[in-house]
Amino acid sequence: MTKRLQRVLAGEAVWPPPTWLMRQAGRYLPEYRAVRAHAGDFISLCTTPELATEVTLQPVRRYGMDAAILFSDILVLPWALGQGLAFREGEGPVLPPIRDAAGVAALDPARLPGAIAPILETVRRVRAEVGEATLIGFAGSPFTVACYMIEGGGSKDFAHVRGMAYRDPALFARLLDLLTEATVVYLAAQIEAGAEVVMLFDSWAGVLSPTLFRAHVTAPTRRIVAALKALHPDIQVIGFPRLAGMLVGEYAAETGVQGVGIDTSADLSLVRGLVPDGIALQGNLDPMALVAGGAALESETRAILAAARGRPHVFNLGHGIVPQTPPEHVAALLHMIRAA
Ligand code: CP3
Repeated sequence: MTKRLQRVLAGEAVWPPPTWLMRQAGRYLPEYRAVRAHAGDFISLCTTPELATEVTLQPVRRYGMDAAILFSDILVLPWALGQGLAFREGEGPVLPPIRDAAGVAALDPARLPGAIAPILETVRRVRAEVGEATLIGFAGSPFTVACYMIEGGGSKDFAHVRGMAYRDPALFARLLDLLTEATVVYLAAQIEAGAEVVMLFDSWAGVLSPTLFRAHVTAPTRRIVAALKALHPDIQVIGFPRLAGMLVGEYAAETGVQGVGIDTSADLSLVRGLVPDGIALQGNLDPMALVAGGAALESETRAILAAARGRPHVFNLGHGIVPQTPPEHVAALLHMIRAA
């Protein structure tokens, strides 16, 4: 019996659509905040299998989500390569920025296996308990991970990143190549530990020009998917090129993914015409509609269900759930989808 989400990624229009939410384990849940309070820092939570397993499973238990996404972070990869990383309250992630060849040369892929070992243990534990839900492993895409590594954290325009891509394309390519190879190792290890689907988060894909998008989003994604499929032919991959706009169609067609995450800004009824038929669409409720609840949540949800009906579709948000989301709005959303 194939699980519902995996049927959709195989090209079947399952109705009502299987549902999970990006960042479904997180601060909006009181049971998450309780674990977080005695876990120490965020990286410790990600690398303590007992706690990471517990928080991964919390939203599946509470809501019966169709997927459990490994509790970890896309910035675990630079951390595992030896770049410093801290999560500061109210400030987000902070890393010592990489701006030159010496910074790239200091990254050490030999550290990776040891550093990710506890995360793989979490994958094994979750898989043993996940039941009918699908276990999704994940990584950031090389480009989005490079964004944080080069800026040293978040940014409103990623000026250093785009500057390096234009001014020193050889150095930028070296960093992306290193990240592409490390991502293959990391995701292959998650698959071997029990991840049934893997997702690549490319949150900042939309800041790039079309030329740079093709070079630094589409091409590395294609390489990662091909390498994973060479090792594990049946693995299903979801790519999320956030704010890709009109380029979402060629991204879907050229990278080899089975599903494509659609961000809040895209109209699913138009995206249907761009993305090849057999490729699943995942998305794309506005996280703020989930905060609002009530009639706004209902009409936005119905519009998405109607726009994707007949296509392989995984219901999700268009970006991550935010901490101020009332947990009962998530329950209301799932009730609405299941009654559709
Ligand atoms: O439930 C899940 O979705 C699984 C876990 C997960 C986290 N981060 C946990 C997390 C996943 C899949 C991510 C992905 C991630 N992390 C992305 C891509 C998706 C996106 O949102 O665009 C990005 C860009 C990051 C980097 C990151 N991690 C930032 C910018 C922040 C700080 C902002 C914030 O929300 O606090 C984090 C921290 C983080 N990652 C938290 C969680 C639950 C909050 C940390 C806490 O509990 O204090």
